[in-house]
Amino acid sequence: MSTQTPIALITGGSRGLGRHAALKLAEHGTDVILTYRSAQSEAASVVAAIEALGRRAVALPLDVGDAASFAAFATAVTEALKHVWQRDRFDYLLNNAGMGVHALVTDTTEAQFDDLVDVHLKGPFFLTQKLLPLMNDGGRIINVSSGLTRFALPGYGAYAAMKGAIEVLTRYQAKELGARGISVNTLAPGAIETDFGGGAVRDNKELNQMVASQTALGRVGQPDDIGGAVVALLSPESRWINAQRIEASGGMFV
Ligand SMILES: NC(=O)c1ccc[n+]([C@@H]2O[C@H](COP(=O)([O-])OP(=O)(O)OC[C@H]3O[C@@H](n4cnc5c(N)ncnc54)[C@H](OP(=O)(O)O)[C@@H]3O)[C@@H](O)[C@H]2O)c1
Repeated sequence: MSTQTPIALITGGSRGLGRHAALKLAEHGTDVILTYRSAQSEAASVVAAIEALGRRAVALPLDVGDAASFAAFATAVTEALKHVWQRDRFDYLLNNAGMGVHALVTDTTEAQFDDLVDVHLKGPFFLTQKLLPLMNDGGRIINVSSGLTRFALPGYGAYAAMKGAIEVLTRYQAKELGARGISVNTLAPGAIETDFGGGAVRDNKELNQMVASQTALGRVGQPDDIGGAVVALLSPESRWINAQRIEASGGMFV
């Protein structure tokens, strides 16, 4: 990897976990390319906050559910790298963007299932494939999964199945990309207070209390808890952690 300031590409960096990871990485000396799907002004405010920290950042539009757009997105990343950084590669990829679908296995529609496949499995699979030529050897990839792959809560069957698939993919990516010195890990957050799932974990008092009561550290997760885990996993001191599923849930359902 280059000795220059590292550059992280974060999908879904306009809000929630991606936004906090972007800001936390910037605080620790990393520049950021972040993506947004619809929240352009939120993405612009993240860029401004990163610049206020003295780091460089750009925000690019991306629908992770639209694999046909990834070649054009890779071109946009190439141009951003050239114009903003005078470089042709970045260092870290955080496959984070995503949405939730809450439906029992018996009620999940094909349309809901297909959306989840596109955003949580096909998207990260082919986006990573398209971006790998733009990554430095020695770089890092983090695929965001969920605590819901380890424990089961009714209503998350299809969603958790996609996240389970990404955990398997992580190990194969690690195996195949090791030759380039690229490590690949899964980061699995527990329930965190974001807009995810309509903001239920944050706004539904009963759900919030249930999660807190089932969490060893006695509270629900905050976005910053995950931003900190991302920084730790991308730090030089974590270089030997590879092909692992790291859960950051405060000890949920243990
Ligand atoms: N919060 C939790 O409790 C929790 C727990 C475990 C795992 N996770 C996972 O963590 C990741 C981030 O979730 P979050 O809590 O930060 O959610 P969030 O607050 O709702 O933010 C979602 C982010 O992803 C982007 N996004 C959503 N769908 C997209 C698509 N089709 N294409 C491109 N970007 C898209 C959004 O962009 P716009 O702003 O432009 O819409 C936004 O930046 C997801 O993969 C989620 O499954 C979350």
